[in-house]
Amino acid sequence: MRALLASALIALALLASGGRSAAAPVEISIACGALGVELELCSEAVAEWEGRTGHEVTIVTTPNSSTDRLALYLQMLASRADDIDVLQIDVVWAGILASHLADLLPYVGDTPADHFPTLIENDTVVGRLVAMPWWADVGVLYFRRDLLERHGFAPPRTWQELTAAARAIQEAERATGNRRMWGLVYQGKAYEGLTCNALEWIDSFGGGTIVDAAGEITVNNARAIEALSLAGSWVGDIAPPGVLNYDEEAARGVFQTGNSVFMRNWPYAWKLAQGEDSPVRGRVGVMPLPSGGPGGKTSGTLGGWHLAVSRYSRHPQEAADLIAFLTSRAQQKKRAIKASYNPTIPALYDDPDVLAANPFFGDLLEPLRNATARPSRIAGPHYNRLSSDVWRAAHDILAGQPAEARVEQLAEELDRLKYRAGW
Ligand code: GLC
Repeated sequence: MRALLASALIALALLASGGRSAAAPVEISIACGALGVELELCSEAVAEWEGRTGHEVTIVTTPNSSTDRLALYLQMLASRADDIDVLQIDVVWAGILASHLADLLPYVGDTPADHFPTLIENDTVVGRLVAMPWWADVGVLYFRRDLLERHGFAPPRTWQELTAAARAIQEAERATGNRRMWGLVYQGKAYEGLTCNALEWIDSFGGGTIVDAAGEITVNNARAIEALSLAGSWVGDIAPPGVLNYDEEAARGVFQTGNSVFMRNWPYAWKLAQGEDSPVRGRVGVMPLPSGGPGGKTSGTLGGWHLAVSRYSRHPQEAADLIAFLTSRAQQKKRAIKASYNPTIPALYDDPDVLAANPFFGDLLEPLRNATARPSRIAGPHYNRLSSDVWRAAHDILAGQPAEARVEQLAEELDRLKYRAGW
């Protein structure tokens, strides 16, 4: 009887721990983002895992800016601090942080095969799986369906069409009431977000990806200069001068209060723009970003956030189990339905519930598969240096410097970096 009771208890404990052998409860921590509803989603999912396992998790919030978050992580990891077990990392950081991250392969079984293979490849650094994908991002264009209709414009296929429509609608709206109306908002602050925008402008004009797949610096070309010149001409014309200091949330703030015709942002902004308290609810469309005209194409930067275990964690097993739970199909489905976060599991793009909640998701599968990667694989640990050279140059051009000379200078800076880094 006693033996029976003991085995029943063990079976119950196994059940509660999702089938793994029951371990004594531990306390771990996770660094989650707080942009939009990220924190709320993270807390809910973490609470679910705590309920299942009996472990306790402390949530540490991090700055919204990807650039500031990286600085914080680097500082913490350099001191080998064990106070954060699970880190939410940007898709472009695998190479930068790899030496501080645990190999997840021994913990995750076959699950990586469910995810987009390019993302798993992205997270595999010298044969070690240093992170698991949590959600994917791709740059998209939001537009005010009602304003385009009212003023007789179709959704723009090129940046030139967008510029003309934005200007005309902005002027007409200002004349008839909303003096605060602007044509376009995006991420123009000097940080990682501007690198994403600049890459889209350049690539969409057929100007390449700044650094090509072989590691050559390609940015100094006529198409790239044309793209950046056009973007420079927007500031103060169709984009507010303040865009030079806008991140994702600042851009969303202007668009969602009804003060911009177009917005470049990530998919998360969709659910928020459609929220009950949103002044633009029911009046927003989403589409792939415009092309740069003849010889160009649509180009959306690949973004997204992944989860990693710090090498200095005292509980890597539990930390990896939390990651397996958070990145699972069931959890990604929840995030997609509740807050329009793009799953990293292709099968979820055929899921009727996910599609019902996000009518545009089916259309995002192709842009996601073809998304333009930043040169983070090539630059590896030097990516942040590369990107900061890019966003500084783009910012100077948005602030009025002539594109031609500034792009030439950028190419020289990147050539020097390539030489020093030896890629
Ligand atoms: C989004 C993307 C991320 C990118 C960041 C830039 O969070 O998912 O990959 O680096 O925006 O601001």
